[in-house]
Amino acid sequence: MEIVNYFDKTFELFLSSYQLDEIVKTLAEDINKQYENVQEDIILVGILNGSFVFISDLVRKLSFEFEVEFAKLKSYDGTESTGDIDIVLDVPVSIEGKHIIIIEDIVDTGLTIEEFINNVKRKNPLSVKTCTLLSKPEVHNDIIDIDFVGLEISPEFVIGYGLDINGLGRQLSGVYRLVT
Ligand code: IMP
Ligand code: MG
Repeated sequence: MEIVNYFDKTFELFLSSYQLDEIVKTLAEDINKQYENVQEDIILVGILNGSFVFISDLVRKLSFEFEVEFAKLKSYDGTESTGDIDIVLDVPVSIEGKHIIIIEDIVDTGLTIEEFINNVKRKNPLSVKTCTLLSKPEVHNDIIDIDFVGLEISPEFVIGYGLDINGLGRQLSGVYRLVT
């Protein structure tokens, strides 16, 4: 499928499932290198809803032991970031004394992940690192430091592979960008 339509908007294929698999593989290799000799407990925290597809592929490429938890944050309305971040569901287990890797689908303004990093840090983890599949550096101007970035993209709106427009499009196996 090269073109998909949602809410009178047209999206074109931007990253195929093959390309996504390569991106996830490279990210996993980086993460494996950094965590292979870690002795303490590690928790991957996926940010819902967008990261569920990415994290399911990523975990199967990691070669160390870890737990998986989720938190749910909300900021977007349609194709615009609202800048108002709600932690709808916080991590339901203690993260004190553990290494935390936050898994995001995409970092746009960076406000969501920044808010969540601060939330996690207040709970005394041993370390906090962040991983995102996609990043829009022209929007967040690198004010926020992400440890593992799959691919930097220009400031365009994308859907698929977990990313949605008003709740739809998450099931697409590729990433599609808005045709303007
Ligand atoms: P930020 O707070 O502006 O960095 O936005 C982060 C959240 O907004 C992400 O977790 C996504 O859920 C959503 N988001 C940002 N950009 C896009 C996009 O291009 N498509 C779909 N969702 C997006
Ligand atoms: Mg998200």
